[in-house]
Amino acid sequence: MLSGVPETALWTLYHRAIAARNGVLDDPKAIELVERIDHPFQERFGDGELAAWQGLRVRAFDNEIRRFITAHPDATVIALGEGLETQFWRVDNGRVRWVTVDLPESVALRRQLLPQTERQRLIAASALDTAAWIDTEPGLITAQGLLMYLDRDAVHGLLKGLPPAALLFDLVSKRLAAHSARPRKSGYQAPAWTFGADQRELDALPVEGLRRVPIPHGRGAVAGVLVPLLNRVLNPIGVYSARTIAASSSSTATPATTSTVASSANAARAVRDATRATRRDA
Ligand SMILES: C[S@@+](CC[C@H](N)C(=O)[O-])C[C@H]1O[C@@H](n2cnc3c(N)ncnc32)[C@H](O)[C@@H]1O
Repeated sequence: MLSGVPETALWTLYHRAIAARNGVLDDPKAIELVERIDHPFQERFGDGELAAWQGLRVRAFDNEIRRFITAHPDATVIALGEGLETQFWRVDNGRVRWVTVDLPESVALRRQLLPQTERQRLIAASALDTAAWIDTEPGLITAQGLLMYLDRDAVHGLLKGLPPAALLFDLVSKRLAAHSARPRKSGYQAPAWTFGADQRELDALPVEGLRRVPIPHGRGAVAGVLVPLLNRVLNPIGVYSARTIAASSSSTATPATTSTVASSANAARAVRDATRATRRDA
């Protein structure tokens, strides 16, 4: 089974499954997966106190992806560090193409456990090895639960080198990153987060049009009141949309809408069309 950072994909899966059981997230596949995997989830990760928070954060991602593929139904979504996310089945419109990029051990487990349609592709590589996946012509690149495990240089290097695309990612606060490095007295000690972002870090990110994505409210005292309040006051993990620098600097970009995500997809498509036309004419 997984260890180190790849094991955190089991943590997030477990918490999504609890969120699904509690009605915070519509994700029957996550429930099914946890039941099928032979892993001492509860013994290792506890009773899932953070499940509502995890479910709502993931819904923020899902909402943005749905918006994107509503505007661009045939787009390619590249999910960096996807682990055992079952997002494809939550947001699928029957046309979107989906590429999972994760470390070899995580991809091997995903291949073994999750079905693949002809619109899905699995790439066993580090997200930082962009040459391994960049030819996939992304419309939207997501990094859910990944950037906090990289160091600052790696995050900046990755973001700077991305092709024209819309971006969706989350970042922990600097304070939470520092807190994660402290040894826990009991329970699961997750690998420390090596990159945290305060406002200054956010301003320095090599992306364009950074926008904080609202985290939806759930129902009841925890998902409806407590988690939204903590998110608003402490913003422990923010979800952000943006577009790559390549999308913004492209001279062929003709944003047709005020939506950050949609305009960078237009830019990406324009660059691709221009490249294809050049190849055809050559
Ligand atoms: C916290 S889990 C998130 C999994 C999934 N995105 C989710 O939200 O449930 C972190 C994931 O990042 C992957 N990961 C860590 N470093 C990576 C890298 N350099 N390139 C690609 N994936 C990486 C791990 O294997 C793991 O699947």
